[in-house]
Amino acid sequence: MIEAKGIFKSFGSRPVLCGVDIAVQDGETLCIIGGSGCGKSTFLKCVIGLVRPDQGSISVDGMDIAGLSAELDVARYRRRFGYLFQEAALFDSLTVWENVSFGLRYLTDVPQAKFRQIARDKLALVGLKDIEDFKPAELSGGMKKRVGLARAIAAEPGYILYDEPTTGLDPIMSDVINDLIIDLQKKLKVTSIVVTHDMKSAYKIASRIAMLHEGQVQAVDRPEAIKASSDPVIRQFVEGRSEGPIKMKLRDFEPGAPAPRRKAGSGA
Ligand SMILES: Nc1ncnc2c1ncn2[C@@H]1O[C@H](COP(=O)(O)OP(=O)(O)OP(=O)(O)O)[C@@H](O)[C@H]1O
Ligand SMILES: [Mg+2]
Repeated sequence: MIEAKGIFKSFGSRPVLCGVDIAVQDGETLCIIGGSGCGKSTFLKCVIGLVRPDQGSISVDGMDIAGLSAELDVARYRRRFGYLFQEAALFDSLTVWENVSFGLRYLTDVPQAKFRQIARDKLALVGLKDIEDFKPAELSGGMKKRVGLARAIAAEPGYILYDEPTTGLDPIMSDVINDLIIDLQKKLKVTSIVVTHDMKSAYKIASRIAMLHEGQVQAVDRPEAIKASSDPVIRQFVEGRSEGPIKMKLRDFEPGAPAPRRKAGSGA
């Protein structure tokens, strides 16, 4: 079980997470939705320990990440996770199969002789064949995403954090990835957090959906309940409308947005 309690995180003077509470039960797929820039990727990075929250606690199976100081303990904690980065984050100088098997070397006792075959098998699961010797520069955006996905599942982790697994994929391939995520959950009992903007995917794969808004969890509920919600914030997001409560706030949060308004009478 992953349990995040009271997570606060600011970057400089910009508050991003303002008291996020999320508990992910064993074997469930929790989808996180929310406007661009609302802190979804930041939350995932907090869970795996790439970003340290200013306040709050995150524990996995009762092990609190803040209490891990030794490098070995942090490595042991991270070993439980597969992580699909939003931008795939492949190593440019390594081939596809070396990228996919990268974690096996550090996280598992799998003999090196098996790496290439494991990479092939995981690539097949994400619909990629005969590209093991390509370099990332030779791949399309969607292929990179899928190589990143193959890498996330290569060591068969118990927890998988997916940051927008279907973004940039065509609708058919998106559905292949949806089915893969469902399969991993059903057959291997994987516990997952999936950040997504893709509501079709969220409705299909989620055990529950959590919506982040203004640095907090606006709602967390089963997909049917989110779909039927009358909350204007949720309605606006799931219907993809530009008008509504989210737009105003997004404008405030956008990098490069105008500085906060001066008080009336202060000039300019
Ligand atoms: N390392 C960082 N340093 C400074 N600011 C950051 C950093 N990481 C994220 N931010 C800021 O935190 C906010 C949330 O970013 P984050 O990437 O978590 O958003 P997101 O919800 O994943 O958005 P998107 O849907 O566009 O991927 C943004 O305003 C971003 O500029
Ligand atoms: Mg993101």
